Amino acid sequence: MDREYTVQLANPYLDEEDARAVYEVVKSGRLSQGPKVEEFEKRFADYVGVKHAIAVFNGTVALHLCLAAMDVGPGDEVIVPSFSFVATANVAIYQNAKPVFCDIKLDTYNLDPNGIESQVTSKTKTIIPVHYGGQTVDMAPIMEIAEKYDLTVVEDAAEAHGSTYRGEKAGALGDTGCFSFYPNKNMTTGEGGIITTDNDELAERIRIMRSHGQDRRYHHILLGYNYRMTELQAALGIVQLNRLEESVEGRIEIARLYSEELSSIKGVITPFVRPENRHTYMLYTVRVPNRDRVRAYLEESGVETRIAFPPIHLQPLYRELYGYKGGELPVTEEAASSVLSIPMYYGLEEEKQDFVVNHLRKAMGSS
Ligand SMILES: Cc1ncc(COP(=O)(O)O)c(C=O)c1O
Repeated sequence: MDREYTVQLANPYLDEEDARAVYEVVKSGRLSQGPKVEEFEKRFADYVGVKHAIAVFNGTVALHLCLAAMDVGPGDEVIVPSFSFVATANVAIYQNAKPVFCDIKLDTYNLDPNGIESQVTSKTKTIIPVHYGGQTVDMAPIMEIAEKYDLTVVEDAAEAHGSTYRGEKAGALGDTGCFSFYPNKNMTTGEGGIITTDNDELAERIRIMRSHGQDRRYHHILLGYNYRMTELQAALGIVQLNRLEESVEGRIEIARLYSEELSSIKGVITPFVRPENRHTYMLYTVRVPNRDRVRAYLEESGVETRIAFPPIHLQPLYRELYGYKGGELPVTEEAASSVLSIPMYYGLEEEKQDFVVNHLRKAMGSS
C-alpha cells in the first residue's frame, strides 16, 4: 500500500466535470479513437499554436513515434540530457540508435547548449531537449546547431504544458514536441500523450504510424504501432485543457510563495527562472546541502519528496550497455546529488505549504 503523507508531492486536479466527461463517453459506447480524440487534438494544437497535434497513449510512445517517423535507426545517435526521466533516452534504444548524453546547466537543470556541438558526429540524427520541471530549454542556440548539422529536434515537453520561451509555447519550438498526461503532470488523462508539429509531412507519417502504419483500413504502408489514445482519455483531456491556464497560474503563485519563504533559509537554492521563460512548475525543485539527510527528515515528518532525477547514464542498464562509471557528466551528477522536489500541485492549501516550509526550515537547522 502507498504510504500516507500529510502533504503529498503531486495531486491531479479532478472534479465532477471530469467524471461527467468520462461518463458521457462510456454512455455513448464509442470508446476507441474517434471524435473526442479529434476534438482534443484540434484544441491542443490551437493552445500550443501549431498546425497539428496527434494524440497517443502516453508520453513515452509520443517520443518513440517521433524518432520512428524521423527514420532514426541503427547506428544513429540521439543527443539527450541524462538529467531526465529514463524514457527520454530509452526511445533512442527502441530504434536501435544510441543515446549520447550531454551535460546540463546547474541553474535551470536544462541542456547546456554549449556542450552540444562537441557531441555532434556524422551519426547524429536528432536532439531531444527536455524542458525540465516546466522550464523551457534555451532553444535558439539548439535550433542553430540543428540547422548547421541538419539534425531534427524533438522537444521533450512532457513536463511543460503551458510553458513558454520568448513568448512561444513549448511544443512549438522544435520540429516536434511531445507531452505526457501522466497524473503528476500539469494536466492529465490518466495515461496519455500528444505530439505537436507544424510539419505537414511529419504529422501525416506520425498519424499513419500511430495506427499500424495504415493509410486506410488494412492497407499498411509503413511499420506502425498501436499507440492510439482512447475516447475516455481524450474526453478527460478536453476538460483538463480548458482548466490548464487556471491550474498553471495557481502553480506559479504557489511557487512564488515558496521562493519567497525558502530563499531566506541559508543553504536552500530556489528555482532560477530565465527572464525569457514562463516556468509552469510541474516540479518545484530546490537544491540543498546534505540532501539525503534533509530528505529523510521531511519524509519522516510526512512531506513527500522526490529526487528528480537520478541520472540516466548511471542506471544499471546504461552502465551495462555503455560502460558508464560515474564522473562523465559532472554537472548532471552534482545536480542529482543535491536536488529535491517538494510538494507542488494546483490547490495545495496554504497550511500545507506552510507545513512544508516549516519542516524544510527545521531540516536545514535554521529554526
Ligand atoms: C521528461 C519526461 N519525458 C518523458 C516522460 C514519459 O511520459 P509518460 O510517463 O507519459 O510515458 C516523462 C514522464 O513521465 C517525463 O517526465
